[in-house]
Amino acid sequence: MDEGKIRIGGICGSLRAGSYNLMLLRAAAGLMPEDITYEEIPISDLPLYNPDLDGPATPEAVQVFRERLKGMDGLLFAVPEYNYSLTGALKNALDWASRPVSDSGLHDKPVAIMGASQGTFGTVRAQLHFRHVAVFTNMHLVNKPEVLVRDPQAKFSTDGRLTDEDTRQVVGQLVTELVRWTRILHGGRKALSAR
Ligand SMILES: Cc1cc2nc3c(=O)[nH]c(=O)nc-3n(C[C@H](O)[C@H](O)[C@H](O)COP(=O)(O)O)c2cc1C
Repeated sequence: MDEGKIRIGGICGSLRAGSYNLMLLRAAAGLMPEDITYEEIPISDLPLYNPDLDGPATPEAVQVFRERLKGMDGLLFAVPEYNYSLTGALKNALDWASRPVSDSGLHDKPVAIMGASQGTFGTVRAQLHFRHVAVFTNMHLVNKPEVLVRDPQAKFSTDGRLTDEDTRQVVGQLVTELVRWTRILHGGRKALSAR
């Protein structure tokens, strides 16, 4: 890893081609500072989590996914809401990512979440469930600002651009906080390892 460059990975919890959460993630990526290396990490090819598959013959898609996560200094998740909770696809990805417990790509990592939904509350319930998962997996979540995008049809153009200025501002603030928090943790770890 380039020691000077902070790397941030983006994960979208929706598999839908026209996903508003994917649009949101890409809008956030466009607001990252230039000295950040950003990569989108897909989750669509992960099999359903099964502990029987998680051993010497762990599927290659999982191995690649885990390595990519581990190479990141911080993570940004776009969290859709299905039935008042996380999507199955995202929970599945988190389950794969969470193992082995003390050496997972989530453990000890700065993380920001945001979400868009066509319901009234803009994924607030799914985001609370994510925060619950983050405790056990030992992610360090950015607390504020909360990015809860409702009525996304009115906020993104038909070609997927985030056109709503208030939403752009709050997404920009979240990105700033994630980058700030990642730099703090990254800098602290470098200082500790140099002792
Ligand atoms: C199975 C299912 C369950 C859903 N449940 C909720 C829900 O609990 N709350 C909500 O706000 N929207 C719910 N929705 C609507 C989603 O917010 C909407 O489909 C949204 O566009 C999904 O995100 P995406 O555009 O990134 O795929 C649900 C949609 C589906 C397909």
